[in-house]
Amino acid sequence: MHLPKVIAHRGASQIAPENTLIAFEKAHELGATWIELDVMLTKDNVAIIHHDETFERILGLNQNVQQTPYAQIKDLDAGSWFDKKFASARIPTLAQTLTLCADLGLSINIELKTTEAYAKHTTLKTLEILKQFKFFTPENILFSSQEILALETVQSQAPDYKLGLIADNWPDVNKGLAQNLKLYSLSLHYPMLNQDNIKILHEQGYQVLAFTVNDHSLAEQLFNIGICSVFSDDALLLSRSIL
Ligand code: G3P
Ligand code: MG
Repeated sequence: MHLPKVIAHRGASQIAPENTLIAFEKAHELGATWIELDVMLTKDNVAIIHHDETFERILGLNQNVQQTPYAQIKDLDAGSWFDKKFASARIPTLAQTLTLCADLGLSINIELKTTEAYAKHTTLKTLEILKQFKFFTPENILFSSQEILALETVQSQAPDYKLGLIADNWPDVNKGLAQNLKLYSLSLHYPMLNQDNIKILHEQGYQVLAFTVNDHSLAEQLFNIGICSVFSDDALLLSRSIL
């Protein structure tokens, strides 16, 4: 697996509504080779690409994702919150998104955005859909999650795929590293990182990724201390023109 220095966080989310097909297309146009996206399950077990617990911010619908059937959100405008010119954007399903990414040749960091209660279902559904796409292999998909059970489920059901633990504090990192998980990478909130702790993680064999980095000089500093990749919304960083 070769991860690029900059991964498009929720697509090109600075210039298009996050986690939509247009955001993934724009990331590709800018030159990104890897995107990051968030997978969740609706009430009727449709895997969709969405970040928040509710649909309030994106659709203006204050309802929990897991309590909402897909039919209720399928045709709702998921772009106007960002800019009226994106009113035709919808919350995509995972299947629609994988179809687009396979066409564009985009590799994907699939974040299983779940809680323990939904971790198994979310992961199994994601793997079932992923299996339908010949284009995707353990070389161009990285699974990540904050939820240990989601990572354990990938490890037991599809052991060839690489796994990344997401954390924004050291107690969660230590908890994750203490599990029986074969981790490839750690996606960490950038303020946690310095040369010393990156060195320790490298000595243990982990790739270290940082989120969410939109400042160019911060990105440079992180690369200089050994970060493998940053997750970024920033169009210029995605185009790599400043790297
Ligand atoms: O995986 C990196 C990043 O996506 C984690 O944070 O909240 O943007 O999903 P979030
Ligand atoms: Mg994410």
